[in-house]
Amino acid sequence: MTTPVDLLIHNATQLVTCASPDGPKRGKAMRDVGLIRDGAVAVADGEIVAVGPTPDLRADYAARERVDASGKVVCPGFVDPHTHVVYAGDRVGEFEMRIQGATYMEIMQAGGGIVSTMKATRAATVEELVAASRPRLDAMLALGTTAVEVKTGYGLDTENELKMLQAIADLNATHPADLIPTFLGAHAIPPEYRGRTDEYVDLVVEEMLPAVREWRLTNLHSPISTPQFPLFCDVFCEAGVFDRDQSRRVLAAGLALGLKPKIHADEFESLGGVVLAVELGAASADHLDVTPPAEIEVLAQSSTVGVVLPAVNFNLGSTHFADARTMIDAGVALALATDINPGSAPCPSMPLVMAIACRYQRTLPAEALNAGTINAAYALDLGDRLGSIEVGKQADLLIVDAPDYRHLAYQFGVNLVDRVVKRGRLRIVP
Ligand code: NIG
Ligand code: FE
Repeated sequence: MTTPVDLLIHNATQLVTCASPDGPKRGKAMRDVGLIRDGAVAVADGEIVAVGPTPDLRADYAARERVDASGKVVCPGFVDPHTHVVYAGDRVGEFEMRIQGATYMEIMQAGGGIVSTMKATRAATVEELVAASRPRLDAMLALGTTAVEVKTGYGLDTENELKMLQAIADLNATHPADLIPTFLGAHAIPPEYRGRTDEYVDLVVEEMLPAVREWRLTNLHSPISTPQFPLFCDVFCEAGVFDRDQSRRVLAAGLALGLKPKIHADEFESLGGVVLAVELGAASADHLDVTPPAEIEVLAQSSTVGVVLPAVNFNLGSTHFADARTMIDAGVALALATDINPGSAPCPSMPLVMAIACRYQRTLPAEALNAGTINAAYALDLGDRLGSIEVGKQADLLIVDAPDYRHLAYQFGVNLVDRVVKRGRLRIVP
């Protein structure tokens, strides 16, 4: 007796599951990608129903559609757990200014940077934001990213922050990728609050966050089968932006309204943001470029995922990267993300991020793959639904045109993703 299924991918030279049902991978477990040679995966109703050696699955399942993955790798779709992919305009002029010697923070302090994108984003309608962002999501999907966290933070007032959330929700409803929203009202101080950061924090806490909560109740209906659509609250905890106390106020207020914390911490200066994140039970602490060793230990002992963003260092022309090697060895649950945004990382590619991590952060290809799939899903509290090839999970899979998963990080500047399966549907990648 065979069981009917929608799709059977079989004969994969390597099928890598990245399975980790009991929490994110840490330490030595990050070197284990759950490799099955001559592997197969069966899919029905958008979910994974079986995974194992090809001969077993062929005997047990009768599929409406079959795909022969001989000579190829099958792996989970990438989860990109830190992005600012929804925005208007670009900052190509700042790119040239940095080449000529200006730093990211100097440009920001001179009124450019995030505020420049804020101006373009405020001037755009929801429809224009959606239209500007969709091609970037298409590029991400073609490069294998099937789920994307997306931050607000270019509105910086109540109306425009809600407009950004609406654009994220509309894209989620119409694009094959899953978009998971994060409210980042505390991303920068808008010009009208210049020199009055505490008053801006009051606005975020007293007006924006309650409005975001209200919006969530009426607008967010989860396509991912979780009881409530995830919604996070983030803050840019950095010298000259929001200090540790201001960051705490924002994140604690969000938490009180049911928004789980995330934090931008230690990108340029360490203000103790990691300790704050751990104290508040944050889903993740992100950047971590200058995190002191004692705080790496604190992170390792916590359930907070550490998200590193090496495309930012690369893009800013820096040779200093977050110390991912020490983090993994200390037991931090490490994830990778692109941070795609118009300033610090105009980069849609998780494979490129993995390639950089392997070269400059000395992660092994297996560690980078787990960091971009299962651990990234846990950084979004979605480790039970996304990020690995396990029975019962959403069928988000990649067929990679290489015989060994290590090629994903070994080759760069090329897209090895041959086909993307999103919720069980095969998509031809352009
Ligand atoms: O994660 N550092 C703060 N925020 C973003 C950059 C956003 C921007 O420059 O537009 C980041 O790098
Ligand atoms: Fe960011």
